[in-house]
Amino acid sequence: MTLQKKGFSTNSVHSGEKVDFINSYGDVVVPIHLSSTYARKVVEHPEKGYQYARCGNPTRTAFDEKLATLENAQFGMSFASGIGAISTLLFALLKSGDHIIGFDDLYGGTKRLLNDVMPNFGIKVTYTDATNPALIEQAITKDTKIIWLESPTNPLLKLCDLEQIASIAKRHSILTVVDNTFMTPYFMKPLDLGIDIVVHSTTKYIGGHSDIIGGAVLLNDELLFKKVSFFQNAIGAVPSPFDSYLALRGLKTLAVRMEVHNKSAIKIANYLEKNPKIEKVYYPGLASHPQHELAKKQATGFGAIITFKVKGGLKEAKLIAENLELVSLAESLGGVESLIQLPYLMTHASVPVEQKVAVGITENMIRFSVGLEDVDDLISDFENVFKLI
Ligand SMILES: Cc1ncc(COP(=O)(O)O)c(C=O)c1O
Repeated sequence: MTLQKKGFSTNSVHSGEKVDFINSYGDVVVPIHLSSTYARKVVEHPEKGYQYARCGNPTRTAFDEKLATLENAQFGMSFASGIGAISTLLFALLKSGDHIIGFDDLYGGTKRLLNDVMPNFGIKVTYTDATNPALIEQAITKDTKIIWLESPTNPLLKLCDLEQIASIAKRHSILTVVDNTFMTPYFMKPLDLGIDIVVHSTTKYIGGHSDIIGGAVLLNDELLFKKVSFFQNAIGAVPSPFDSYLALRGLKTLAVRMEVHNKSAIKIANYLEKNPKIEKVYYPGLASHPQHELAKKQATGFGAIITFKVKGGLKEAKLIAENLELVSLAESLGGVESLIQLPYLMTHASVPVEQKVAVGITENMIRFSVGLEDVDDLISDFENVFKLI
């Protein structure tokens, strides 16, 4: 069966897995292989290709293959965390003197790595507003090796035209990386748009239940795959068998979860936009979003992260975030339960104030991850909390 040609949900259920009547009891799910090492009969090579669990593990392989199929990638690798995937990739691809161009609004942990860790290894970073591809081209120097993108970004939900940026990068022989955590392969496949490498925090929608920390890298170039695999084994940021299993299980329901997340988010974003207590709503699914047309062109959904600014300041933002009944005040996103947080003081606390001010991350900004609760219950929760301000 060539799964690449099957539908998304069929692939998410079946790819990477097949019932093994010879080596198992006929399990219909891949077992959690806990062994840290694998015995062999002869010195030269292990019987089934596995030698030591940092180098590879069958539960992990099943997840890697499934996610690669869903992203239309030839190769997939999973990691101990999203940041583990990102840092391994950066160390594999860069050397001292190299330069990265980053979208000016990125997840705070990615910025911390680019601002506070990579310079120690002689790697420079320039941020630019990738909503305008011309600014990316202007930022290219002779040392530029990677253009690092999110679309939408975290937390401002800005988009960039991936096809245009990929073609600029190709002209200059620069690699493009897209962190596809917010969209997931269900809504967007950056490799199909000409992007070289996709990364994920599988902690989010792919795991989907707020019970793992994980990451992934997907790509088509075999030489790059070998290089990143070498670095993964050398650095060691590998996922545990149990986390690999939970991520694998999460992928099987990704399509149905993303449909409901997306539908509820559209309803809540429209509700918030009409509310007089709200200053501004950032959500690519709103007609008022400056890149609504681009969102429709390069993805098949808008995702379920809504960022908004409440009229007033920190006091009003805290009143909302701390008093919702159904929604937990917590970092992270993408789980079945709705989460809310204040990027200025939480996920983006480590980003220098001047960088936050420059892109518009303010104290009255709130990021909401729409879960799978009944949407009308979530709206009632907001109705109640808005009475407090
Ligand atoms: C877009 C994005 N990328 C990467 C990460 C980092 O992933 P992890 O927390 O799994 O290391 C996050 C975490 O919030 C994120 O939101």
